[in-house]
Amino acid sequence: SKNHRIMSGMRPTAKLHLGNMMGALMNWVKLQDEYECFYSIVDWHALTTGYNDTSGLKGYIREMVIDWLSVGLDPEKCNIFVQSQIKEHAELHLLLSMITPLSWLERCPTYKEQLRQLEGREINTYGFLGYPVLMTADILAYKADLVPVGEDQAPHLELAREIVRRFNYLYKPVFPEPEALYTEAKVLPGIDGRKMSKSYDNYIAISATPEEIRQKVMMMVTDPARIKKSDPGHPEICTVYAFNKVFAEEERVKELEESCKNAKIGCVECKKRLADLLVKFMEPIRERRISLEKNPELVNDILNTGAKKAREVASKTLEEVREAMKI
Ligand code: ADP
Ligand code: NA
Repeated sequence: SKNHRIMSGMRPTAKLHLGNMMGALMNWVKLQDEYECFYSIVDWHALTTGYNDTSGLKGYIREMVIDWLSVGLDPEKCNIFVQSQIKEHAELHLLLSMITPLSWLERCPTYKEQLRQLEGREINTYGFLGYPVLMTADILAYKADLVPVGEDQAPHLELAREIVRRFNYLYKPVFPEPEALYTEAKVLPGIDGRKMSKSYDNYIAISATPEEIRQKVMMMVTDPARIKKSDPGHPEICTVYAFNKVFAEEERVKELEESCKNAKIGCVECKKRLADLLVKFMEPIRERRISLEKNPELVNDILNTGAKKAREVASKTLEEVREAMKI
């Protein structure tokens, strides 16, 4: 019911890809019918790892809004806004940082993991360590009680809940403890078979042209043991098959699986069919994108309206917070 409030965000650090679309955005589209949703382009979060080159930020924000709207987020049904336009996130982040023990942040598995990965780069900043506190502020500014998260974000949400309990105990029970809303979405592989990710050059962008989609599909890795069409294939290790499982109807998936195992269809033919399917799937999305690109004023209006509604809610929350903290 609309009694529940959802908050989620994405960092504008790269073009969004089909993995983001099937793993997150399509779920957001569903949720907007059932809940009151706040969807934020979290540009301050982008700075936690990308402060040294910010030249692409504004462009990525723009692209991201257009991607969101193209795949079906509807500003009549959800609030879409840019985080940095709502200064309450910063105020709440500061206040929450006062009550968050350093040890809670240092033991966060994503922090330890990323530090290892980014070794040698000047990444270990105060803001980077405090990322989960900012995320907590994003959620609490709207008193969201449900947060759609991937498994990898679960520790952050656990931390948010601990911060809520501490705040409510120290001052006043202002905040609900946000709960995770897990999605069943499958992980979409990239064209190289690893997880599709902006960090690898293996993704198909939501904004890809039909030609680009076809090119990328033709590059997909299939069963390496299959040299000739007459060799029986192993769909379970094939990227094209994994894509079909996400995008094609069940009957078609079964049919392709049989044809592959019995060597009735070759990889090239199978790729062509997948390319056709994807191009068709993306066609209405692409049409919406093209019309939005021609209408920058509409995009501005949507962001301004979203920011206004977000600010209304967040400023009320901050009033309560100041009152509870006696400041
Ligand atoms: P961040 O901006 O925090 O780095 P990502 O770009 O990794 O986030 O992902 C944004 C969202 O898209 C997350 O909800 C994530 O689970 C989802 N996502 C990313 N890659 C994939 C994928 N290959 N398959 C399914 N979902 C994905
Ligand atoms: Na991520």
